[in-house]
Amino acid sequence: MSCPAVYGRDMASISPITVDDRPAWDALWQAYLEFYESEVPADVTEATFGRIVADEHIHGVLARDDEGRPIGFVHWLTHPATWTSKVYCYLEDLFVDPGARGEGVGKALIEHVKDWAQVYGATKVYWLTAHDNVTARGLYDKIATSTGFVHYEIEL
Ligand SMILES: CC(C)(COP(=O)(O)OP(=O)(O)OC[C@H]1O[C@@H](n2cnc3c(N)ncnc32)[C@H](O)[C@@H]1OP(=O)(O)O)[C@@H](O)C(=O)NCCC(=O)NCCS
Repeated sequence: MSCPAVYGRDMASISPITVDDRPAWDALWQAYLEFYESEVPADVTEATFGRIVADEHIHGVLARDDEGRPIGFVHWLTHPATWTSKVYCYLEDLFVDPGARGEGVGKALIEHVKDWAQVYGATKVYWLTAHDNVTARGLYDKIATSTGFVHYEIEL
């Protein structure tokens, strides 16, 4: 299913990630990992792509330019929570190709997840970001509420 254009680029669209998108998704995924100065083993990337395409537990869409070329992605999932009888929606990954930034693509991808989550019956969409990710926060501060929570974890 393709959505109508929702941002500045003429005839751009947001649509599900399919098996045929693997090379383009890979390029965006690797650029995203580089942004985070991180690496993910090849078998994890393989499994992640498979789970996104399966669209069962992990969901994802690509933003495409007017020629159908992928220029960004967002991945998300839902989970039960003790503070709601419904579910929360966690937006895990968001990336826009550097050449396509500042034109509303990131905002449109977040809005896509928000719309999806609303239809699904989630009570909120939430995500994490680095406190010094000034660019991303420039967007987030316009469209969402900063909770002030601090993120802890224990690697196992
Ligand atoms: C964060 C990111 C997804 C934003 O994508 P984008 O397509 O450029 O975002 P948008 O064009 O939708 O931005 C919308 C708003 O954010 C603000 N914004 C965008 N780029 C900005 C920048 N470089 N500095 C400050 N604010 C910025 C703009 O004010 C814009 O609002 P406006 O349209 O009302 O002027 C993109 O920069 C990115 O992929 N960054 C690297 C990966 C990353 O940080 N991912 C998020 C991890 S939590």
